[in-house]
Amino acid sequence: MYNNSPIGVFDSGVGGLSVLKQLVRFLPYESYVYLGDTARVPYGNKSDDTVKQYSKECAEFLIAKNVKLIVVACNTASSIALDTVREVAGDIPVIGMIEPAAGAALRASKSGKIGVIGTRATVNSKAYTNKIMELAGANQITVMSQPCPLFVPIVEEGLIDHPASRMIAEEYLSELKKLDIDTLVLGCTHYPLLSRMIGEILNGIPLIDSGEHAAVTALRLLAERKMLIEERDEFVMKPKIDFFVTDVPNLFFEQAQLFLGFNVDSPKKIQLGIC
Ligand code: DGL
Repeated sequence: MYNNSPIGVFDSGVGGLSVLKQLVRFLPYESYVYLGDTARVPYGNKSDDTVKQYSKECAEFLIAKNVKLIVVACNTASSIALDTVREVAGDIPVIGMIEPAAGAALRASKSGKIGVIGTRATVNSKAYTNKIMELAGANQITVMSQPCPLFVPIVEEGLIDHPASRMIAEEYLSELKKLDIDTLVLGCTHYPLLSRMIGEILNGIPLIDSGEHAAVTALRLLAERKMLIEERDEFVMKPKIDFFVTDVPNLFFEQAQLFLGFNVDSPKKIQLGIC
């Protein structure tokens, strides 16, 4: 592992590209290896053992690519399998989605009433609740979590502004609204794409994008370890990203453009475990 080694990023599929977008925003001169386990997505309704096994295999793939940092760009994998990934990563640092977003939510909240939305697996794990409570210490905090499983297919089907999506969002968010939360953690890779609609329903309260705060954490960590690449010699318009997937879904290029905001090169198809 060298300073100019790539940053390894993995997710259950294309959703982690919303995290990669933030990484490229804050660390534009780094090179990246992105792995989307598209053959086995979604992780959000799988058992803990399965999520741990899949995450381990993703991490091992990135380690073999000689990465200098692993970003677990999936809230479900971060909630359930962060320790598993850290075990296989050894001395390669690992950043998950939970802690950076939990800290940001505490800084943003004035009333101490914080909402968290995510997949069923993320909510059931209580990873966000436990981390927010741990970081809050003696401060009086209420965390209310709500699984929003239909948000993932809504985004992947491109129904971001559809009236049916708004009806579903109003239903999902109604309890959080009643509780009068003043901050909401978007605890899933897909949810930042729905932030305009969610913000409108919740009257403009701060929405915490887990990818954004994980990217800031990555920036800080690499700077502290003097491993940050701060400039690039040649004038390159496009960030350097190698894409790997375990299957090429029909809508891969459209979805990648949606999450990342720019077109991606063709991904290489690889096999992990027994798909
Ligand atoms: N990437 C997942 C997450 O952030 C959402 C998709 C899935 O369920 O795998 O939780």
